[in-house]
Amino acid sequence: MRISVIGCGYLGAVHAASMAKLGHDVVAVDVDPGKIERLAAGEAPFFEPGLPEILTEALASGRIRFTTDMAEVADATVHFLAVGTPQGPTGAADLTYVDAAVASLVPHLSADAYVVGKSTVPVGTAARLAGEVEAAVPGATLVWNPEFLREGFAVQDTISPDRLVYGVPAGEQGERATAVLDEVYASALAEGTPRLVVDLPTAELVKVSANAFLATKISFINAMAEIAEVVGADVTALADAIGHDARIGRKFLNAGLGFGGGCLPKDIRAFQARASELGVPDSLAFLADVDAINLRRRDHVVTLAQELLGGDVAGKRVAVLGLAFKPNSDDVRDSPSLDIAGRLEGLGAHVAAYDPEAVVTARRVRPELDYTETAADALRGAELVLVLTEWNEFRELDASEVAGLVASPVVVDGRNCLDRDAWTAAGFTYRGMGR
Ligand code: UDX
Repeated sequence: MRISVIGCGYLGAVHAASMAKLGHDVVAVDVDPGKIERLAAGEAPFFEPGLPEILTEALASGRIRFTTDMAEVADATVHFLAVGTPQGPTGAADLTYVDAAVASLVPHLSADAYVVGKSTVPVGTAARLAGEVEAAVPGATLVWNPEFLREGFAVQDTISPDRLVYGVPAGEQGERATAVLDEVYASALAEGTPRLVVDLPTAELVKVSANAFLATKISFINAMAEIAEVVGADVTALADAIGHDARIGRKFLNAGLGFGGGCLPKDIRAFQARASELGVPDSLAFLADVDAINLRRRDHVVTLAQELLGGDVAGKRVAVLGLAFKPNSDDVRDSPSLDIAGRLEGLGAHVAAYDPEAVVTARRVRPELDYTETAADALRGAELVLVLTEWNEFRELDASEVAGLVASPVVVDGRNCLDRDAWTAAGFTYRGMGR
């Protein structure tokens, strides 16, 4: 199939390369010439396992090309919209990029074209865009096909997703759109991937409600961590025990610093803003608590650091291990780790920060921190160690070697990822999250 992908950010770049991997002919467009140049040279603009390999393969086979010229999409039948919907000043999603992408795409659409939205948008956006597209190009169809990829597993999640959701118009137009998407995703369907065909607003809601649920699950366990801290219980054992109930499940019950990244925080805020616009603010009022519990985890670690350093962090050397919002990523968007590192530096601490992949991206946001090349460099002379992203490299640290590097053996395990007994045996004062 001839496919275009509009927007080469996280979602678009992975989607474009994955579509080529599946054998489709792909043209990928972005307004940023620097990004297009890098992608055309086979360079992934961010760290994502597996992406460089499929990108190189797609370029070598000639099944993908990158351009800034929207006119080059004209011969594609399926056009995926994969531009960003960042958080606007009020919390509501900013649709500037979606609207601009549609406006520049429309003049190049053929009468049998399908515009397939992938971006996360406020419910109601797809119906509005469908009206615009169909008015401008009679015969063209707009559908919504939300994306559920996780950073770090983005290629795998695109090629073999948990489920496919198609939001399509009613009647024969919807049936034709379903058949076209079935062709796009033929390999996933052949593997038995469940496919749900729904209307446009349901498709938009599936995406935001899935993210709202995941955020709620994380904040639920972090609320339990707050209680566990007061009574001396262990939230990890609690999560294991309740997670055995198949109705609850153990996944996304890891207490720690809470959620960050480019999706969950902004999506729960945009969803609340949309509910208010729709006149049902009470329905999602609980998400304000989900957000507040999440942000309290960061305050908690800053307070804990102050307490462990005798009440004041000023002039103290603090080693921060982990800056990315989660492991196997160089993404620091709304990263709890980087937020905490920046706040400690702001309170006068000398923060020596290390991350296996995210130093370059972190430096752009917080140039004031002292970034090190290795974990050992950050640890040397530290009066407090904060492990804030659960990279395997940190799980595997030898606690007695670390004890030999630091000035004072005190560790905060912000992700409950260290072997508490090993660190305690090595002489560390160990503080986890809710345990
Ligand atoms: C998320 C959704 O998982 C994905 O389906 C959607 O398409 C985009 O948003 P992502 O942002 O890549 O994906 O990260 P995810 O793995 O969901 O983690 C989000 C945040 O929650 C991270 O900061 C992570 O550290 C945190 N988290 C996750 C916890 O604090 N505890 C957990 O148990 C799980």
